[in-house]
Amino acid sequence: MIKLMDKWRITNHLLKHSSKLLFDRRLSANSHNSVFRSALECSESLVKRGFGNASTIRYRCFGSEATKFERNAAFSTLNSEDVSYFKELLGEKSVIQDEDVLLAANEDWMRKYRGSSKLLLQPRTTNEVSQILKYCNSRLLAVVPQGGNTGLVGGSVPVFDEVIINMGSMNNLITFDKGSGVLVCEAGCILENLVSFVDDHGFIMPLDLGAKGSCQIGGNVSTNAGGLRLVRYGSLHGNILGLEAVLANGDVIDMLGTLRKDNTGYDLKHLFIGSEGSLGIVTKVSIHTPPKLSSVNLAFLACKDYFSCQKLLREAKRKLGEILSAFEFLDNQSMDLVLTYLEGVRNPFSSSMHNFYVLIETTGSEESYDREKLEAFLLSSMEGGLISDGVIAQDINQASSFWRIREGIAEALMKAGAVYKYDLSLPVEKMYDLVEKMRQRLGETAKVIGYGHLGDGNLHLNISAPRYDDMIFAQIEPYVYEWTSEHRGSISAEHGLGLMKANKIFYSKSPKTVQLMSSIKKLLDPNGILNPYKVLPHSLSSH
Ligand code: FAD
Ligand code: MLT
Ligand code: ZN
Repeated sequence: MIKLMDKWRITNHLLKHSSKLLFDRRLSANSHNSVFRSALECSESLVKRGFGNASTIRYRCFGSEATKFERNAAFSTLNSEDVSYFKELLGEKSVIQDEDVLLAANEDWMRKYRGSSKLLLQPRTTNEVSQILKYCNSRLLAVVPQGGNTGLVGGSVPVFDEVIINMGSMNNLITFDKGSGVLVCEAGCILENLVSFVDDHGFIMPLDLGAKGSCQIGGNVSTNAGGLRLVRYGSLHGNILGLEAVLANGDVIDMLGTLRKDNTGYDLKHLFIGSEGSLGIVTKVSIHTPPKLSSVNLAFLACKDYFSCQKLLREAKRKLGEILSAFEFLDNQSMDLVLTYLEGVRNPFSSSMHNFYVLIETTGSEESYDREKLEAFLLSSMEGGLISDGVIAQDINQASSFWRIREGIAEALMKAGAVYKYDLSLPVEKMYDLVEKMRQRLGETAKVIGYGHLGDGNLHLNISAPRYDDMIFAQIEPYVYEWTSEHRGSISAEHGLGLMKANKIFYSKSPKTVQLMSSIKKLLDPNGILNPYKVLPHSLSSH
């Protein structure tokens, strides 16, 4: 086998020419529109669920703790006059009652959650959103805001018969300042389209995630999505400079500033970042995009144990410093799953499996300096025994294939069968203990998969089983939440709470904090029509 450093030497000259391409790769090769289709197709056999208009929730049949709760009786039921009103307001084409469209929009990406909405609206302007909400509020019609429907916690689909307000038709770019890199656009813009647009002007979006071909910037903002670049560019709380949102009563709140600094009073935009459509509908956003830098390197590394991954992260932060742009990890079980279920994926270390894999991406402006820095880092890490094997992407295709392994895990899990998905923030040194504990608890009954954004202390713990099973579920919950809470972690690092974790919020937030959240909800949405049953515990909801 070629020694690690030899591989790097061989590839260095290629990298010189491939850094622009690496960016381009991230624009196109990882758009998983096709991923979504195939994942949905192959999960057809997962679980058979009810799809009626029952007033008791009955689709969450993947665990014995399935919350059986009633539809809020205070909400009205849609009638023909409502539909006529919406047709008058939006035009026939934007008022969707087609069964096939509704079937897809009622069901989430994981095919775990399914509502029974009879109506999907597609507003094209903020004023239309405002009129819709004003009407729904006066009629007590509950609504669910929907972006690309790639959310992973059941937040983007109705629980019962809520009207779906899909933001996909509000997809205009408004302004782009080529000096400051500030982009202002409508909430329904697909992330990947924004990535392409700013790339053409020499900028990058400060967030990148596997769902970028389908998710919308409004959905990203509403979930405060993290993704692969957070380690470098920080969270959307820092990158979103302003936004426009429509409250439940139809009031339009214009906070669409483009300034980096603005301390005039409470910074209310933050309430809408990460509130998962429960406080208002985000209609426009203003986002700071950093300049695109010319030199990008991607290394795929193998480590013998989790301790080495941890140490490698500490070293990378110190030694790569400002050029580090991604630090992701996956375990052997994740790799195995991807190799088994995704077509055309192969292990870069073809001859052997390793216990852990780490992807390190660097992004900088000075090719020779960046390369020297990365090489010195990899050499010292290899000498220190932190890396057992490694390869740097030689070209755009190789870089793409490395990212495909990491970004394809969610899709591979869907193909493998039932998946219990947890998204936790934990101290990095403790993080993998939980994966091992779960393996002990579950034995041979299920596969336990650990991967995630190690650079941000974010573990994606996934339990994969042939089918949803009460016995398995009982081994997982509440243990996962209790363990996370004991270690002062967060039960939602980046995916949000949605329906899945609305009642689990107390594992990560104090009662007084949750009470304050509930007061804010009541202030902004007194009738509770916006995304009901989600985010906040049902005991505090207004029904
Ligand atoms: P949706 O799924 O439609 O909605 C998500 C939530 O936001 C819902 O509560 C919805 O009501 C609300 N919402 C949507 N649009 C609006 C709006 N305009 N105004 C108000 N509320 C709104 N997430 C990460 O954080 N990091 C990742 O790395 C990541 N990778 C993923 C990879 C895959 C393959 C998949 C399927 C998902 C991934 N996700 C990830 C989860 C998901 O993509 C993100 O949560 C994304 O931000 C959701 O955007 P969306 O447009 O699909 O929103
Ligand atoms: C990821 O990082 O791959 C996403 O958050 C999706 C997942 O957790 O599976
Ligand atoms: Zn993630």
